[in-house]
Amino acid sequence: MKGLILAGGFGTRLRPLTYTGAKQLIPVANKPIIFYGIETLVNIGIKKIGVVVGDTKEEVMRTLGNGERWKINIEYIPQEAPLGLAHAIKIAKEFLGTEPFIMYLGDNILKDDLRSLVDQFEENHPNASILLTEVDNPQEFGVAVIDEKGCVRKLIEKPKEPPSNLALVGIYLFDKEIFKAIDKIKPSWRNELEITDAIQWLLDNGYKVESQTVKGWWKDTGKPEDIIEANLLILQDIDSDNQGKIVDSTVNGQVRVAKGAIVDKSTIRGPAIIGENTKITRAYIGPFSSIGDNVVIENSEVECSVIMDGATICNLEKRIDRSILGRNVVINQISESPRTHKFILGDQSYVQIIK
Ligand code: DAU
Repeated sequence: MKGLILAGGFGTRLRPLTYTGAKQLIPVANKPIIFYGIETLVNIGIKKIGVVVGDTKEEVMRTLGNGERWKINIEYIPQEAPLGLAHAIKIAKEFLGTEPFIMYLGDNILKDDLRSLVDQFEENHPNASILLTEVDNPQEFGVAVIDEKGCVRKLIEKPKEPPSNLALVGIYLFDKEIFKAIDKIKPSWRNELEITDAIQWLLDNGYKVESQTVKGWWKDTGKPEDIIEANLLILQDIDSDNQGKIVDSTVNGQVRVAKGAIVDKSTIRGPAIIGENTKITRAYIGPFSSIGDNVVIENSEVECSVIMDGATICNLEKRIDRSILGRNVVINQISESPRTHKFILGDQSYVQIIK
């Protein structure tokens, strides 16, 4: 079975972070989000993955390479514009061939492994198999209606009045009939070929669509608060490991310190992860923090946040909490005059200051 991972799109809801990079490459627990999807596919034995790429293709290709890192083969499929999930399958037809395949949205992270979904697919031979989970905000997802026997009856993309709270998780299994369905559907009001419409076409035309419900947690990392939440969920399960230097400091709970990192006169309360060559001095790093490589944190407190490579945080009187700092961001509090705020912020940056 081949895998198809979608890494195109614009990432508008994650601006300003996505002005300078692909949303699928934002780090969660110091690892690009898309790596979690690749690893989930590798874990069920997939050896060939096609990655659909858009405007950010160079960065995605540079980061993933040819798949050597996972001992698999990665091919890239350029998409001229984000014309929909079904459009991405359509342009990958040559790569996918006629065998069943699994599609994984590159901004999704799933705790479960996919073994039972694949086993059920291989046993029952449906034409499509989808994953569902209960959510509090179904209007933000594709939503499914299932009958009393658990059979899928209807799928609607981001309905204003959701008929159920069962969201479609961004992981799907298909056989070759999906290409026929995609050829029959028309672009939606947002000018996308919707995968939900293609699966609905299969349902309406007597094809077999099965579903399974997710047991562990699942995150679509579409918005900043989803990144914080995904980071928290991944950090919950990390093991301790210290390859750096810890001097005159207190470290509690599960904490990973990468090589070259120095923690000096500080407190780290896990779960937390500290990247390579990062320097933490007279600081407090609280639970659920991911601190990237080459970061400097001095005389400051950080908790439940994602701090990306090269950032600097110095002398802050107030704790940073539930925040995301992009690469090379600098936050510095000064005590000499002029005692003014000074900001150099990109479009759509967000700052919250407390007296
Ligand atoms: O995450 C689950 C949801 O994913 C489902 O519940 C929805 O039914 C499904 O439509 C999708 O909704 P999103 O609005 O979250 O999709 P998004 O536009 O964020 O795209 C998902 C991924 O696919 C993302 O990594 C970008 C990539 N993509 C998207 C489009 C539209 C492409 O590579 N090409 C595209 O044309």
